[in-house]
Amino acid sequence: MFDVNAIRKDFPILHQEVNGKPLVYLDNGATTQKPQCVIDAINDYYNLDNSNVHRGAHTLADRATVAFEDARKGVQQFLNAEHSEEIIWTRGTTESINIVAQSFGSQFIQAGDEIIVTAMEHHANIVPWQMLCERTGAELKVIPVSDAGELDMAAFSEMLSEKVKLVSVVHVSNALGTVNPVADIIEQAHGVGAKVLIDGAQAVAHFPVDVQALKADFYVFSAHKVFGPTGIGVLYGKKALLDQMPPVQGGGEMIEKVSFSGTTYQGLPFKFESGTPNISGAIGLNAALKYLMAQDRDAIATHEDALLKHAHERAAKCDGMKLIGTAENKAGVMSFLLDGAHPADIGMLLDQQGVAVRTGHHCAMPIMDQYEIPGTARASFSIYNTIEEVDALFDAIEKVKMFLM
Ligand SMILES: Cc1ncc(COP(=O)(O)O)c(C=O)c1O
Repeated sequence: MFDVNAIRKDFPILHQEVNGKPLVYLDNGATTQKPQCVIDAINDYYNLDNSNVHRGAHTLADRATVAFEDARKGVQQFLNAEHSEEIIWTRGTTESINIVAQSFGSQFIQAGDEIIVTAMEHHANIVPWQMLCERTGAELKVIPVSDAGELDMAAFSEMLSEKVKLVSVVHVSNALGTVNPVADIIEQAHGVGAKVLIDGAQAVAHFPVDVQALKADFYVFSAHKVFGPTGIGVLYGKKALLDQMPPVQGGGEMIEKVSFSGTTYQGLPFKFESGTPNISGAIGLNAALKYLMAQDRDAIATHEDALLKHAHERAAKCDGMKLIGTAENKAGVMSFLLDGAHPADIGMLLDQQGVAVRTGHHCAMPIMDQYEIPGTARASFSIYNTIEEVDALFDAIEKVKMFLM
């Protein structure tokens, strides 16, 4: 049985007052809080095992290396990847996408090729492709999004041709909450020989992802949005593809042999991991994924759906409130506006009542432009949020309305 109160006990940060009110943390899309087991894993590593990995000839180095490589296997299991060397450590989703844009881009993208993204992407899944197109003369195409926040799949099918080399799509939109039909997108893209990258930054905390079942070529996410630490993330890529891609950063760890007459590189995954990696980050992420995998994930999804449904029901009765993003299939996010109120003022007045939300364009300016708004206030939910907290948000919104409307 899923017990939200038991889950809440695992997250020490939640039990505090902010501005004299119990903290209601609804900014999980920006970053999730960390359970005690993650904090302990990082502490234990620094207290007991701290050492550099892969090259030490002593016990601490062995322990650190085993824990670090165990973490890679933990991610492999979490994503159901076929091989552990398909898991590349990065600094986060942004760096993962940039590595693919640079490496896959330099190997496989030429002038006249097309890359497809959607109108609801985070800037991290737009700008690297724009930079690649500038470098190569390829063209960036955009799948339109409806007023409800759903992809125009008919337009996508029309856009597909042999010119398309890569489709890069967000799994769950951070600005709208839309869950995109990524399996269908992957199947259609593969039909014309294109590869597909899925930005899973907002997906992995909410439901299980199986990269083999999806047949994703690349899948990327950030640890800090799935109860792990900041500064570390994952690039999953199919081995056969990563094997053909050149490294993008040179230095220690990624080489096999260095000489002034020529240098050779390591194989996967190390050719993409130059320099000392984020060891404590990997260990923290492994603890976070183990924590999540030990929960009943169906029950988590049911709980989070209930939070979102309750929020939407209250929103429907809340005069002057407008939801941005009303797709049929949504996860974790309620973006909203209040008549005549600037989102930044909404955020500030909610904070005064202990309620943490995010305001602004959510690094998704193009979709904000489509709605002709500067931004939204966004409440984003996680496993530890409660129905009472959704009610606290709406009680606080009523007070905001008295000030601003
Ligand atoms: C959908 C999506 N993609 C990419 C990112 C970028 O993640 P990071 O800043 O951890 O690299 C975010 C962060 O908000 C996101 O929500």
